[in-house]
Amino acid sequence: MSETTNQKRVLSCIQPSGMLTLGNYLGALKNWPKMQDDFDCIYAVADLHAITVRQEPAKFRQQIYSTCALLLAIGLDPERSILFVQSNVAAHAQLGWVLGCYTQFGELSRMTQFKDKAAKHADNVNLGLFAYPTLMAADILLYRPDFVPVGADQKQHLEIARDIALRFNHIYGDVFTVPEPYIPKAGARIMSLQDPSKKMSKSDENPNAWVAILDSPDDIMRKFKRAVTDSDAKVCVGADKPGINNLIGIYSALTGRTDEQIAAEFEGQGYGVFKQRVGEAVIEELRPVRERYETYIADKGELEAIYRAGAQKAAKFADRTLGKAMRKIGFAF
Ligand code: TYM
Repeated sequence: MSETTNQKRVLSCIQPSGMLTLGNYLGALKNWPKMQDDFDCIYAVADLHAITVRQEPAKFRQQIYSTCALLLAIGLDPERSILFVQSNVAAHAQLGWVLGCYTQFGELSRMTQFKDKAAKHADNVNLGLFAYPTLMAADILLYRPDFVPVGADQKQHLEIARDIALRFNHIYGDVFTVPEPYIPKAGARIMSLQDPSKKMSKSDENPNAWVAILDSPDDIMRKFKRAVTDSDAKVCVGADKPGINNLIGIYSALTGRTDEQIAAEFEGQGYGVFKQRVGEAVIEELRPVRERYETYIADKGELEAIYRAGAQKAAKFADRTLGKAMRKIGFAF
């Protein structure tokens, strides 16, 4: 990606949290390669965010490699997009500090993700967890993107990033672009297969609740066959059918079909047939990703070359915005 195109710009990041899920894929990752056709794209592995919970060093490093390999496997092209690892570009941590000074304690206290995670890791409610949204705002604002493709759970973080940008611009003039979230119509909130009132998350203790992008076809099918439904036995969207609504959402995100078309397709057929078809659709979607992943993860040297080159390109953008913001504040260089 060159620095001078007139195309609109997209930025997004993902944490290297081990097994990435079907939720990550449908809510965000699936859209990323497509956006390369129409936008200048910048994508990063958000490793700094991952240390808000304790990481085991060797495993953590492996997860960073693995996430890079997965980004290539879903079709990101380092010739067309900038791919990098967040910690390799120092400006993220630097602007994160600066933006923290333009963010209120009260705003951060209202973040639902902070409240959830603080409750879950009550023995490690660290400053990083609290300040997470200011680092995320820095990730975004450094690159002045027009759109940020994310799942619905990141909407609140996007809103605070917008608020911080507006606040900063109001004081110092036009430094940051105020980005728009890009949240897919289908797939923005994939729920647990075992408890569809909860988001699908790899930290779920029940392994049948979530599907990993790299799960084997047999595991994927087994998890869909066990997915929780209801006693209605009719494939259609309904207020008291959260399990079926979730499966319809997954099928819709994969096939592009509307809820009505899906209801018509499975008219008169039981949940067994439907679950099998959703499982097959997921398996077919993820099969090539898994195969390509094996090739990329086998060559660490190549992965390192890709993300290091990406960091050099990213730093050019990021340092320019950081410098501008800091000069406006009055820092002397
Ligand atoms: P993370 O790493 O938790 O998730 C990566 C992306 O996957 C989406 N996602 C889901 N979408 C639908 N259904 C689900 N069950 C589901 N679970 C996860 C997330 O919405 C996200 O788009 N804070 C971010 C990472 C980040 C970031 C950024 C994102 C750091 N800096 C700057 C955008 C811009 C996070 O933890 O996502």
